[in-house]
Amino acid sequence: MEKKPKAGRSFLGMGMVLVLGVFLIFLGVRMLLDEDPVVSSKNPLRIPPVLEDQDPDPQVVSYVLKAETGTMSFVEGGRTPTMGYNGSFLGPVLRVNRGQEMQVQVENHLPESTTLHWHGMDLPGEADGGPHHGIPSGGTWTPRFLVDQPAATLWYHPHFHRNTGPQVYQGLAGLIYIEDAISEALDIPRDYGINDIPLVVQDRNFTEAGEFLYELTMMGLRPGEVLLVNGTVHPYFEAKREPMRLRLLNGSNFEDFRFRFDDRRSFHQIASDGGFLEAPVAMEEVYLSPGERVEIVVDFSDAASEQLLLMEGDRIALEFRLTGEPGASWTVPETLAVVPPLEPGQASVRRTFVMESMGLQGTINGKAFDMGRIDEEVVLGATEIWTVTNSATMMHSSGHPFHVHGTQFQILSRNGAPPALGERGWKDTVHLQPGDEVELIMQFHHPGVFMYHCHMLEHEDYGMMGQFRVQ
Ligand code: C2O
Ligand code: CU
Ligand code: CU
Repeated sequence: MEKKPKAGRSFLGMGMVLVLGVFLIFLGVRMLLDEDPVVSSKNPLRIPPVLEDQDPDPQVVSYVLKAETGTMSFVEGGRTPTMGYNGSFLGPVLRVNRGQEMQVQVENHLPESTTLHWHGMDLPGEADGGPHHGIPSGGTWTPRFLVDQPAATLWYHPHFHRNTGPQVYQGLAGLIYIEDAISEALDIPRDYGINDIPLVVQDRNFTEAGEFLYELTMMGLRPGEVLLVNGTVHPYFEAKREPMRLRLLNGSNFEDFRFRFDDRRSFHQIASDGGFLEAPVAMEEVYLSPGERVEIVVDFSDAASEQLLLMEGDRIALEFRLTGEPGASWTVPETLAVVPPLEPGQASVRRTFVMESMGLQGTINGKAFDMGRIDEEVVLGATEIWTVTNSATMMHSSGHPFHVHGTQFQILSRNGAPPALGERGWKDTVHLQPGDEVELIMQFHHPGVFMYHCHMLEHEDYGMMGQFRVQ
């Protein structure tokens, strides 16, 4: 009689231990199933700081950019040696108004040489920051140029020949916002970091210790298993139920991206690489090759759910956590800007460029890059039509984003047909699928030596680049 309650208690105790054990195993299995190889928690999207103008003169913006090494922790418990501008990874946003002069003091605090290129900027060759403008370790380079082109989202990154890919992979890149009277007046979201947010999307691989794994194969750079958005792994962003403007840059070295929302909602593209389109273009997904940008506006005001996902292919790029009541209804402006068409009749020269790659190696017009050779001579002020072909065979086929320095172009045709609506604005990078042919028209406003190349950075580093001289 005395033992019974004891046995009962211990039986009860064992039972509880058993239940607890089963529960813990269940939890453990759940955690294992949920566990992500990279991080187990979601992180608030990093919003790059806007750099402060050092010059009180309203006609001039003056910035200091320090290329430096740093450390990040992308992988839980891992340490990633990185490179960044004024920080550990990526760089601040540089703002400039059309009509202002821009001066940037670029300091190289890296243990190696670098350069700094203003991708998409219409400027003289000496300020372009291409492979000829090496800044040795410890050195400084201070270009100054007039910004006179429409409002746009441009970017900056190093361009040191044969080391562009690795330096960008380690974190050297940042955005430039050009604003003008049109961008200030349009009824579109413009609160930086609130409803006008930059999204620099990049793919990366990591070693077990958390270091970047920059792995070249015969085929090129191994696709990254992890997406970084503004340097954030598994990012989320708290957004109000209102229109949201996203400035998307494919900042990856080698991979194309296809963005859409998980509920397939439609959004409007309002800008291409070099500025606003004439009218917004409704779409459900947008394709971006390395170096390309779009600005889109997506209206969250009708979203009933708490969460919306920006997808890249089948993976989540960014989780939007929606808060608050639906905002006032908004419609995208019917017209955005005027993009005066460049007239083919004005073109004085036609040139052809054939892009060909065999895995990592590639050529343009049969030639691999040679810094000592000028490939094309261009007359200052000329309008030209460039026909670019991606000559791919069954054995060797890759898309290629073709990029031209120092000017913005318009696409006259793609495979003989007018370009898609989202490509009928200013562009500086155009993607060519295997077999594609595009006709580009452009004007050359500034003298100097400039590059044209494939913007898959490993193709560029391994030869798919040429130079033209404007004089
Ligand atoms: Cu993004 Cu040669 O440049
Ligand atoms: Cu460029
Ligand atoms: Cu390429």
